[in-house]
Amino acid sequence: MPTLAILTSGGDAPGMNTAVVSATKVAAARGWDVVGVLDGYEGLIDGRFRPLTPEVVSRWWNLGGTELGSARSERFRERAGRTQAGEHLKRAGVEALIVIGGNGSLTGGQALERDTGVRVVGVPASIDNDLACTSIAIGVDTALNTIVEACDRLSDTARSHRRAFFVEVMGRDCGYLAMASSIAAMADAVLFREQGRSEDELVHQLRGLLRDSVSRGKQRVLVIVAEGVSPGTARLAERVSEHLEQDAPGFGLRHTVLGHVVRGGKPSFRDRLVAGRLAFGAVSAAMAGESGVMVGYEPSESGGVRSADPSVHLFPIDRVLADTAALLDGTHPTTKRRLALLDAVAGVLPL
Ligand code: F6P
Repeated sequence: MPTLAILTSGGDAPGMNTAVVSATKVAAARGWDVVGVLDGYEGLIDGRFRPLTPEVVSRWWNLGGTELGSARSERFRERAGRTQAGEHLKRAGVEALIVIGGNGSLTGGQALERDTGVRVVGVPASIDNDLACTSIAIGVDTALNTIVEACDRLSDTARSHRRAFFVEVMGRDCGYLAMASSIAAMADAVLFREQGRSEDELVHQLRGLLRDSVSRGKQRVLVIVAEGVSPGTARLAERVSEHLEQDAPGFGLRHTVLGHVVRGGKPSFRDRLVAGRLAFGAVSAAMAGESGVMVGYEPSESGGVRSADPSVHLFPIDRVLADTAALLDGTHPTTKRRLALLDAVAGVLPL
């Protein structure tokens, strides 16, 4: 029987397990054997495989994290590591490898295919939502729900004490989690790297926000700060605090870094749905002989190749990575659209 290998790589994301379960079931239903690779590319280099059947994975579908384990592999950046990984896959009779992960994981998959000829199909999974060619990656929805719930809780205590909270959320270089959660949490402002503001401009903006909020009689001020913002949330809070008595008499200021809390937890309905559909698309593509592609969740016409699922399209990994670079450096139309939207609501958020 042909064999399919599956690995999860990079930062874990809620819904990775759901994708592994779905991929295993689809493959088994079509008569393929499945092996899971332990600890991402690290385990691949060492040939650490675990046979997967629907029975083995049956209890994983709603678990957070990744049961296969994950890693950020330095060794896989070297050609020698990739060659060794390719040999293990060939020895195990693997026809195709499904890589579930983010930007770095797809870059690794592309290099593996180039160096060893192993067929690779990528599935986007990263809470950061920093990958192009997919409207959403696995894990984003659960992370957003966690952020919004945390902000609701912080708002309770903020209102009780008349405080401003600066809340830092993950996302590495991408401000998507901050932007999206700011709307759902009814934040007063959102700061993200792509705005390109200097430290002094940010401090000026935050001081103005506090003055306005006090004059409006607000009890709570909530500012969501993306991880990528320089100089960092603690430093911003420190600088704004220096003028707090003058800008916002009677108000307190605290900052909170949500950090890895946002990466954990059971996958939401939407993450399970997206993970199941992307995994179905990825396995179908791998079995059809596709390689060097990523499945993207794109409900609208997107320029990708349509799969059996109208919301799942195939994109060459080369294009995904080039578009992702543009997404992060601000030249991609999606980033421009997000910036324009947040600019448009900048005057609405603090009301
Ligand atoms: O890519 C997911 C992510 O959680 C980012 O938001 C964050 O910058 C990074 O991973 C943290 O990585 P680590 O878990 O290695 O500290």
